[in-house]
Amino acid sequence: MKKLLTVLLLGAIATPLALADTPAETRTKSFKKILLSFEPMGMVVRGRDPYQKDAFIRQADTLKQLAAEPFNHFPTNNISGKSRAKPEIWSQPAKFQADKDAFLKAVSELNLAAHRGDLAVIKKNYGAVAQSCKSCHDAFRGPEK
Ligand code: HEC
Repeated sequence: MKKLLTVLLLGAIATPLALADTPAETRTKSFKKILLSFEPMGMVVRGRDPYQKDAFIRQADTLKQLAAEPFNHFPTNNISGKSRAKPEIWSQPAKFQADKDAFLKAVSELNLAAHRGDLAVIKKNYGAVAQSCKSCHDAFRGPEK
């Protein structure tokens, strides 16, 4: 009986811990959500899918809503488990912040272009966002583990 109780108690303590995401898992999930709106826009920009102004606006709005979210989940020196976060995120905070700001600015500009509906400008601004993803990844995201 005592043993059963211990098992039950341990279960009650362990379950919420097992279900809660680590910060690395949370930020990875939010980056993946970003990709879900960014990729379909890329298909349009590359001419693989037709340009439909309203649908494109919805994706650009979603991207703008989601863009800042992952950056709420980089607590100090949080490199755990399978995280690809590099220690430079915390040793070069000003550069990380600057890359984040450049990304958010590029996302806003792409959003404005989507609402205006000029595909040539959209393409240019989409390229700027893609470049901002890449430059941050080059500096601050390590290899897959
Ligand atoms: C300012 C930095 C920064 C910007 C901007 C940024 N990322 Fe990331 N991204 C990261 C870091 C750091 C990780 C690794 C997080 C971890 O594993 O803890 C990451 C992880 C990801 C992941 C999770 C899967 C994987 O490969 O690790 C995806 C998907 C992703 N980013 C896509 C994007 C896309 C698409 C953009 C642009 C639209 C973007 N990111 C912009 C820093 C950034």
